Amino acid sequence: MAMQGRTGIALIAALCAVCLLPGLATAQLRVGFYQKSCPNAEALVRQAVAAAFTKDAGIAAGLIRLHFHDCFVRGCDASVLLATNPGGGRTERVAPPNNPSLRGFEVIDAAKAALERSCPRTVSCADILAFAARDSITLTGNVVYSVPAGRRDGSISREEDANNNLPPPTFTAQQLIDRFKNKTLTAEEMVLLSGAHTVGRSFCSSFVDRIWNGNTPIVRPSSETPY
Ligand code: HEM
Ligand SMILES: *[C@@H]1O[C@H](CO)[C@@H](O)[C@H](O)[C@H]1NC(C)=O
Repeated sequence: MAMQGRTGIALIAALCAVCLLPGLATAQLRVGFYQKSCPNAEALVRQAVAAAFTKDAGIAAGLIRLHFHDCFVRGCDASVLLATNPGGGRTERVAPPNNPSLRGFEVIDAAKAALERSCPRTVSCADILAFAARDSITLTGNVVYSVPAGRRDGSISREEDANNNLPPPTFTAQQLIDRFKNKTLTAEEMVLLSGAHTVGRSFCSSFVDRIWNGNTPIVRPSSETPY
């Protein structure tokens, strides 16, 4: 990866941590939030991410995107992780922008399990997602930065919230700018954050309409969703 890419990722990561805050009115995030209540919190997350990264380096990209997709829907409240809703109904994680492409859930589960053994009911899943995204940046971009913590987990996860808030790959620049503005992010911040795509993968269906001047050679690998 070029140096520019690394710097880009560092900026992205910093923006992720600082700007995509949950429920803006009440957020009081702080670096070292778990210093007294769970001193090993960040180390345990780092270990879980590192172990997964050793087996599959692509997991880093998955975890960065997981944090983004959490934060853009109901704020950074770990709602993207929920498998069921108290009130019933379909959840964020089964929404087309998340399923089947979102990956890394099992890494967050492993980190959470380690944290529950070490300090039960202390570290929020939303913070684990933010730490894991940072650790992924560290592993891929060789950049270290501090993540303010203290996010609270939500209990509501609705498919339509994911569909209505996550920007689809078909959006125009203006639509993207508007969508980020709605999250209090500027066009410049959007461009910086988009640098996250320095790493990762995409299904062909996400971009095939925009290449080869519309003359798409029809190749349909069976492992892919149809175009
Ligand atoms: C600007 C609006 C954005 C759009 C339209 C967009 C769209 C997409 C799409 C279509 C994919 C491929 C999904 C697939 O087909 O598997 C993707 C992947 C990804 N996105 Fe974005 N994205 C946006 C912003 C962001 C932001 C802000 C971040 C993080 C800061 C991010 C991080 C990633 C990463 C890391 C991947 C690769 C995931 C993997 O390899 O598992 N994206 N994005
Ligand atoms: C974002 O959009 C929602 C739904 O249209 C709206 O209620 C909210 O006020 C908007 N937020 C900002 C910061 O523009």
